[in-house]
Amino acid sequence: MSAILWNSADAADATGGKSNGDWVASGISIDTRTLESGDLFVAIDGVNQDGHKFIEAAFEKGACAAMVSRGSTESGPTLRVPDTLEGLDSLATYARRRVTARIAAITGSVGKTSTKEALGMALAASGRTHISAASYNNLWGVPLSIARMPTETDFAVFEIGMNHAGEIRPLAKLVRAHVAVITTVAPVHTEFFSSVDEIANEKGEVFSGLEPDGVAIINADIPHYERLRAAALRHGAAEIVGFGASAVADVKLVSIELSATSSRVVADVFSEIVEFQLGVAGRHMAMNALAVLASVHKMGGDVQRGAEALADIAPLGGRGRRHVARHAGAEVQIIDESYNANPASMRAAICVLGQQVVDEGARRMAVLGDMLELGAASGNMHADLAQILQECRIDCVFLAGPQMSRLWEVLPKSMRGGYAPTSVDLVPKVLRAVRDGDILMVKGSLGSNMSTIIDALIVPSESRGAH
Ligand SMILES: Nc1ncnc2c1ncn2[C@@H]1O[C@H](COP(=O)(O)OP(=O)(O)O)[C@@H](O)[C@H]1O
Ligand SMILES: [Mg+2]
Repeated sequence: MSAILWNSADAADATGGKSNGDWVASGISIDTRTLESGDLFVAIDGVNQDGHKFIEAAFEKGACAAMVSRGSTESGPTLRVPDTLEGLDSLATYARRRVTARIAAITGSVGKTSTKEALGMALAASGRTHISAASYNNLWGVPLSIARMPTETDFAVFEIGMNHAGEIRPLAKLVRAHVAVITTVAPVHTEFFSSVDEIANEKGEVFSGLEPDGVAIINADIPHYERLRAAALRHGAAEIVGFGASAVADVKLVSIELSATSSRVVADVFSEIVEFQLGVAGRHMAMNALAVLASVHKMGGDVQRGAEALADIAPLGGRGRRHVARHAGAEVQIIDESYNANPASMRAAICVLGQQVVDEGARRMAVLGDMLELGAASGNMHADLAQILQECRIDCVFLAGPQMSRLWEVLPKSMRGGYAPTSVDLVPKVLRAVRDGDILMVKGSLGSNMSTIIDALIVPSESRGAH
């Protein structure tokens, strides 16, 4: 039997709700597809559908109880609250209050999940560590992640995301972090913001939730560093730490050796020289690692052991995970970046492709789909990728989507592999082109459906893993 996370008395106390039976829960779930036996099921309205429709299914899968705001059931005990999302917030508030753990909040335009996972691994070398699952970073993902935190936790790491102004502050106040990290600020979701400055202001709201002794950890290499420092001061941060390659950084990159699937990094962490192997490729990941080591230090963990743990990081599904595929007698390598894309992560992934070593005659191929939600500047942001593709010596480029047609127009003829309006239409062009030894990097926003191309190349038995 798993450890007890919640009992009916504590949950009633936390939410002010009415429990019609005694129960103990070993977990919390809002989704019956992933619910595990012993979980408390929280029926949230309108995440995808009305969760109240799934109460019976939850009990069938072994839920110990359900938190509901309406209806009735004979299948198991309920905790009745006026609003289940508020109820989940209340569980989070209670769970946060009952731990003595040191807590980190991570936000930024890109790199939140990568940094959260890396920090989780690094802290686990020093104590019992709890982190958010997947990219649970929104109005239900954050409270759910906090409510899942065991009482006996030494360190916890929560991801905070946003699509619109005003979303970060209430989540930051639930997390009540000792350390709040901004990985970077970049044009992502620009459709919903009038400028990147405005995006930076919204990210700075993460500091509103800092505890009185809280530390702000900010990317010192970005133009918004000063703006974010000012936000940290305004919100009363006790200390501000910059990380990066910049001379003003407190946690600084000393040197980096990039290779195809990993990096060797030397960092100056508050004047202590730390040398470590990073199990993922790309300079951007090393920058995330600096934020990780700064956080470990400020959370009271062991920096050296944390750095050693970073050797074991592996790329996440759809974010750099590799596959080998065989097609028509050719063996090709695929770097699967199909989970998401924006100008910052697109550049990072193109640089990683540029670092790949191919045999003579084989090629580095970029297979790219539209970056979505970029608003009016979208066309130019796509066309601008021509430069980095050339700088990184990408041999051959395949493009899908209406936005990518802008890049196609400006791409030198020698680099043009093929263009199609959709990823499905691009599949035959890519399949015809691949040769033995080629390395393909496939990336686009989730809505661009670039995983179609990977699915066409990979034999079904090769598992691609979850996002
Ligand atoms: N600091 C960074 N700068 C640029 N790209 C990054 C950075 N960190 C991660 N990435 C890339 O961005 C993509 C999304 O990473 P992820 O960590 O899932 O970000 P988020 O959780 O913020 O969406 C991946 O392709 C990853 O390789
Ligand atoms: Mg994420």
